[in-house]
Amino acid sequence: MTEYHMPVMLTESVQALKVKPDGIYVDLTFGGGGHSKEILKRLDKGHLYAFDQDTDTLANAEKIEDRSFTFIKANFRYLTKYLKVYEVTQVDGILGDLGISSHQIDEGSRGFSTRMNGSLDMRMNRDSDYSAFDLVNTIKESDMKIILSTYGEVKNAGRVAKAICVSRVNKPIETTGELVKVLERLAPRGKQNKFFAQVFQAIRIEVNDEMDILREVLEQSAGVMKKGGTIAFISYHSLEDRMVKNFFNNGKIYGDAEKDIYGNVIRPFMPMNRKPITAGTEEIARNKRARSAKLRVAEKL
Ligand SMILES: C[S@@+](CC[C@H](N)C(=O)[O-])C[C@H]1O[C@@H](n2cnc3c(N)ncnc32)[C@H](O)[C@@H]1O
Repeated sequence: MTEYHMPVMLTESVQALKVKPDGIYVDLTFGGGGHSKEILKRLDKGHLYAFDQDTDTLANAEKIEDRSFTFIKANFRYLTKYLKVYEVTQVDGILGDLGISSHQIDEGSRGFSTRMNGSLDMRMNRDSDYSAFDLVNTIKESDMKIILSTYGEVKNAGRVAKAICVSRVNKPIETTGELVKVLERLAPRGKQNKFFAQVFQAIRIEVNDEMDILREVLEQSAGVMKKGGTIAFISYHSLEDRMVKNFFNNGKIYGDAEKDIYGNVIRPFMPMNRKPITAGTEEIARNKRARSAKLRVAEKL
């Protein structure tokens, strides 16, 4: 457990990886290093490569003094590319704990929190040149509506998109507080916080290109995983979970599965569970982030 971030489903996810002491593993989402440290405890001659695109995680990575550990400050969409740099062609396991960390939310200035006023930023990678400010102040109303309804499941997406576009005519929306002000009038009674969270989630997903990146990394993971290797993803909203589920079940993220002449689904992974694993009541009581978490595990065929 770290102050930076309390890891979710730590035991369940790391156990699912069935870490071999001499195996090669990848933690796609290092964050506070909770999952990475647990994997490292199980390694002897093996190695762990951990990715994170947020500079704030560097300090956490620097605290880990272990020859079995390599930190890669990069977007995990470059998984294959970076593994090549380290001359790794195949791995025994990959873990992804998607979304943002508690640290990122708690730093109000980064703009992820609906409750703290900060600049409209929401970039996980602050070297990126596209922030929530750019999105909110330049996007076409029709595109905003699609983003809100697809990524945030916002019911009155059209009205929200319009309100944002009207509000920015005289002066750009610069802070999360200003955005919340625009949203306040449209929030369903008694469900304000949920509504703000849905809008913020949608913007964050688009700013960080989270859906495309998840698709890319799922497809790449099939190419780098050893036969019998394990992949485990923890997701926090239905869109992510659906992508992971479809890929594990159908070998495809969108559309129907393809079958061979014997009627077997052509897919790189075999899902280990029909239903996702969820956190226990005790963990949920300790850590409310665990409430929406869904863990899916699959084995490379
Ligand atoms: C939920 S937190 C992971 C927490 C971590 N498992 C722990 O125990 O501390 C997600 C982390 O993944 C990082 N992240 C999200 N998407 C990423 C991406 N596409 N590439 C690299 N890092 C990413 C975020 O910056 C964040 O630090």
